[in-house]
Amino acid sequence: MQIATTIAEVREKVLEWRSAGRKVGFVPTMGNLHDGHLALCRLARKVTRHYVVSAFVNPMQFGPNEDFNHYPRTPEKDEDLLRSVQCDLLYRPVAEEIYPNGLLNAVRVEVPGLTDILCGESRPGHFEGVASVVNRLLNIVQPHVAVFGEKDFQQLAIVRRMVDELKIAVNIVGAPTVRTTDGLAMSSRNQYLSDDERALAPRIYEELCKVAEAIELGQGSLSEMMQLESKARAALTADGFTVDYFSAVSVNTLRKPSISESDLVVLCAARLGKARLIDNKRCTRL
Ligand code: PAJ
Repeated sequence: MQIATTIAEVREKVLEWRSAGRKVGFVPTMGNLHDGHLALCRLARKVTRHYVVSAFVNPMQFGPNEDFNHYPRTPEKDEDLLRSVQCDLLYRPVAEEIYPNGLLNAVRVEVPGLTDILCGESRPGHFEGVASVVNRLLNIVQPHVAVFGEKDFQQLAIVRRMVDELKIAVNIVGAPTVRTTDGLAMSSRNQYLSDDERALAPRIYEELCKVAEAIELGQGSLSEMMQLESKARAALTADGFTVDYFSAVSVNTLRKPSISESDLVVLCAARLGKARLIDNKRCTRL
């Protein structure tokens, strides 16, 4: 595995592969890798000949009171893990190359309609930061395929919309959420949980599954879904979570589904102690 820190190094390597007619994959991350990230890597390796992983804790997507400074950074462990999944190139960008004019003067990518709802409501500017860095990374790496986790469902929807509308020549692939045996979605932020909080955390996925199942079994009208959502919200609140949202929406618009839409996703974000956890469960309405 090669390690690159400059744009020129990445471009040179990818150009070499592309010139040889080989497909190139890409997995953007913020490092502190776990099995969820590694599943994305394995998928990239399956569908392309070579793949690049970036590890960059992107300052633009963190709010002023968020965990940018404390976000876990484990560069050596990441290298070992990436070697174990035969990553070809690890790209660790230098912040000055990504934001040469500083954060305040940086060019930003807005994705209206999708960034101000759900997670965007409690994290203003977050998805603008995500879209802005993913756009840069895709332009730097120029992969044929980029893999993103369905765990961050709203992020994936925003990336798809950006790539589509900005005509970026890349195929975006979504990968299923990797969970621990008790159902908790793997996340770097799970490390912020105390033992007691960690034991409670799988409750989010339990409630998501309960609501998704009830919708599949016929409780799919808007009023029935609203009742299911508020029951789930109350149950999680009683357990000690602070629920930012718990909402069944259309997979396409991430808004309340119209009568004809049957492909839904139940999304939840809830805070527990120092951690903000997100998860989702897809379902089909009758
Ligand atoms: P990060 O949180 O490191 O996640 C990198 C990728 O791994 C994302 O596509 C995310 O959805 C995926 N992922 C995380 N946990 C997962 C799990 N349990 N199962 C499956 N996939 C999982 O998401 C980001 O970084 C950043 O916002 C980024 C896209 C890199 C832009 O800075």
